[in-house]
Amino acid sequence: MTIRFALLGAGRIGQVHAKAVTSNPLAKLVAVAEISEEAANAVIAIYGGEFRDIDTIANSDDIDAVLICTPTNTHADLIEKFARAGKAIFCEKPIDLSIERVRACLKVVEETGAKLMVGFNRRFDPHFIALKETVEAGRIGKVEMVNIISRDPGAPPAEYIKVSGGIFKDMTIHDFDMARFLLGEEIDTVIASASVLVDPEIGELGDYDSANLILTTASGKQCAISNSRRATYGYDQRIEVHGSLGMVAAENQREVSIEVATKDGYTRPPLYDFFMTRYIAAYAAEITTFISMLTDDTPPTPSGQDGLRSLIIAEAALMSVAEGRAVKLSEVS
Ligand SMILES: NC(=O)c1ccc[n+]([C@@H]2O[C@H](COP(=O)([O-])OP(=O)(O)OC[C@H]3O[C@@H](n4cnc5c(N)ncnc54)[C@H](O)[C@@H]3O)[C@@H](O)[C@H]2O)c1
Repeated sequence: MTIRFALLGAGRIGQVHAKAVTSNPLAKLVAVAEISEEAANAVIAIYGGEFRDIDTIANSDDIDAVLICTPTNTHADLIEKFARAGKAIFCEKPIDLSIERVRACLKVVEETGAKLMVGFNRRFDPHFIALKETVEAGRIGKVEMVNIISRDPGAPPAEYIKVSGGIFKDMTIHDFDMARFLLGEEIDTVIASASVLVDPEIGELGDYDSANLILTTASGKQCAISNSRRATYGYDQRIEVHGSLGMVAAENQREVSIEVATKDGYTRPPLYDFFMTRYIAAYAAEITTFISMLTDDTPPTPSGQDGLRSLIIAEAALMSVAEGRAVKLSEVS
């Protein structure tokens, strides 16, 4: 069975998913919707498919599933439209910036019985899967603490920042999902500190570019997250899980893994430059998993509820920064 896809939005992440879909023997890219003809044509030239507008795609019998890769402020409307049109939906994170809007959107998903997967791609990274499997096998005992370092090589353009919802809802949201995934418990409390150390324009837009957070579960398990919109040495993505019997760590990945030792010391090749290269295997596995969940008729994971949970943590983090105190998730949800 071949799943016939339409891509909505052919920007940075849309191009990544177009590649993943067209590399998968069980999938076909049938149509691309874009407000930029240039962006659509660039993707169609490489990956095929034809240009169609959103309404035509919703009414197309030759489309089984859509990939929502448009800016965040369009996601909830598009999810509702395609849920009502009977299409399976893969939607990039976050679903929306408002908890209430996400709840209303998920109600439509539930009522229509639509299949929805949210794009928390890091759950599909082979290194992070190995972390999770090590934890589940009991090799480090009972999980106590998770440490996540997640630094982008550089900040996105101001136009992106303006509609992104800010660092917690745009960037840290991936780390919130990993914290839930690895701790295996829901977060109860958030303490966050955030500032503007990288780019004053980000501050002028009301956002932050540097943050540290501590998430705690009801049983006391903790996750520390460190974020920056700048890392001069590449895309810095490290995770440690500490447990009662030991520790498991996922180190930074490189395109080439060698180490050169001379009298001047040790050197290693640079890290991957950003998400499009570092997580390429994860994006491909994410689409493969989405396809098998559709063909096997199993509920897609990460689900809309996973998207909502991480958004609630982001809202609590914002409140924590604004009020300078620990915030319980029950205060924002
Ligand atoms: N999971 C990840 O790792 C990851 C990485 C990057 C971005 N994202 C998410 O993906 C979304 C897109 O981010 P991006 O970086 O690709 O942005 P982008 O600006 O590069 O691309 C968005 C594209 O959508 C098009 N577009 C805008 N409105 C449209 C509409 N109504 N219909 C059709 N096309 C439309 C734009 O012309 C643009 O080409 C955001 O929600 C972002 O949070 C996720």
